[in-house]
Amino acid sequence: MIEIKNIEMQFNKKVILNDFNLQIEKGDFLGILGTNGGVGGKTTLLKIIMGGMIVPNKGTIIINGEVQHITNYSLQNNMGFVPDHAILYEYLTGEEYLHFVGGMFKVSNERIKKFTETVLKDMGLIDVKDKLIKTYSHGMKQKVSIASSLIHEPKFLLLDEPLTGVDLISGKNIRNFLKQYTENGNTVIITTHLLELAHSICNKIAIIHKGKLAKIINVTDYDLEKLEKEVESIYV
Ligand SMILES: Nc1ncnc2c1ncn2[C@@H]1O[C@H](COP(=O)(O)OP(=O)(O)OP(=O)(O)O)[C@@H](O)[C@H]1O
Ligand SMILES: [Mg+2]
Repeated sequence: MIEIKNIEMQFNKKVILNDFNLQIEKGDFLGILGTNGGVGGKTTLLKIIMGGMIVPNKGTIIINGEVQHITNYSLQNNMGFVPDHAILYEYLTGEEYLHFVGGMFKVSNERIKKFTETVLKDMGLIDVKDKLIKTYSHGMKQKVSIASSLIHEPKFLLLDEPLTGVDLISGKNIRNFLKQYTENGNTVIITTHLLELAHSICNKIAIIHKGKLAKIINVTDYDLEKLEKEVESIYV
């Protein structure tokens, strides 16, 4: 469980998150919706939850009863992060990159080998595993980025707009992959601007507005049209 308690974040005296509270249960697939930049706060919130990427001015993140902190490495080892713009080592092959990240997390060679083979197959990258990442398309790079975030078997996976610019088929593969991941008892938080995506993949949607949690939605209670109306009523 992730408890976000009274988080406040300011950049240059501009309030980005203001007394932000939210609880995320084990197995949740949470979508965070909000407007672009300005006082958006979606990326900021993910980085705060990760512990140390951004340290908030106020408030606490508690994960499975433990306080998240810049030096809580054991907790951070239980978390995976997929940034909005993946920066990969383009002169490694897809397979080499996954081995490299696994090594950084001190994952056993046996697990690295097994996971790499399975994930490359699942993500449809097995045929290009020996090609340099610089020759991959945007969607292929996104898949490598997501795969690498899972190599240390994190219980919590945070993804910042992972499907932007990803084609339909790759997007579908990634969606199915993530759904399976939550069905295995893990927790996923995803930020997105795409209502359809959030509706099709998430069980809960948090709407951020003016730095606060404007609404938390149980997706089963909403069809897409109702969700659209709800979001519009908050933003207009
Ligand atoms: N490190 C930083 N230093 C100063 N200001 C920052 C920093 N990070 C974010 N901001 C500001 O905080 C605000 C919210 O940024 P954030 O990236 O959290 O928005 P977002 O909701 O992710 O937006 P988008 O939908 O465009 O990705 C913006 O005004 C941004 O300029
Ligand atoms: Mg963002």
